[in-house]
Amino acid sequence: MSDKLKVLGVHFSPRRQGSSWIILEEFGKGVVDSGAEFSTVSVAEANNLHGCQECGSCNVDGNCVIEDDMAIFYKAFEAVTRIVVSTPVFFYDIPAQGKAVIDRSQAYWARRYVLGRHREGLEGAQGFLLGVGATRGKDLFIPAALSVKYFFDALAFPKNFESLFFRKIETPKALTKEQLQSARAAGAAFAKP
Ligand SMILES: Cc1cc2nc3c(=O)[nH]c(=O)nc-3n(C[C@H](O)[C@H](O)[C@H](O)COP(=O)(O)O)c2cc1C
Repeated sequence: MSDKLKVLGVHFSPRRQGSSWIILEEFGKGVVDSGAEFSTVSVAEANNLHGCQECGSCNVDGNCVIEDDMAIFYKAFEAVTRIVVSTPVFFYDIPAQGKAVIDRSQAYWARRYVLGRHREGLEGAQGFLLGVGATRGKDLFIPAALSVKYFFDALAFPKNFESLFFRKIETPKALTKEQLQSARAAGAAFAKP
């Protein structure tokens, strides 16, 4: 098994080749530039994804009882110490599909805060947030950043993380070369051991 640093890109847009995906891809190129491994999971590939039903089962054994495509995300989260989330803004927040992934991380929250379990092997863990929206509001990414902060905390990743936000991006065509370069540079910096 490779001992390279592993970075996971978590994509929260239902649009497969949209702006947040392209930004994430550029970030991933930067990760690879730095000699790390980059893989992705996307809600756009998850056709069967449900929200948390607040049944409380994870409070008992730390596992979610819902059997669906969230299994892909749970498996991916186990294998990495660096996670970059890339999300568009929908109605000032994360798209419902991405929010479902966050809400289902309640299983991790329950393991940590109800069952008192410690996740091993997360020394040096770090998160990063990429955000994209069509408008230019100064508070545009605040809701997403707060949700992601507590998502990382549930995973036992640090609550403090760097981010890169792109405003006035309605379609991928609006992304400039400089913006893509900045995403790649951020990925390279993020993947430094
Ligand atoms: C349902 C929906 C709601 C949206 N709400 C907002 C919004 O509140 N603020 C904003 O700036 N952009 C909003 N947008 C625009 C998207 O954030 C923007 O087009 C983004 O680039 C889409 O990224 P994607 O191609 O990765 O999905 C919305 C788009 C959709 C489809």
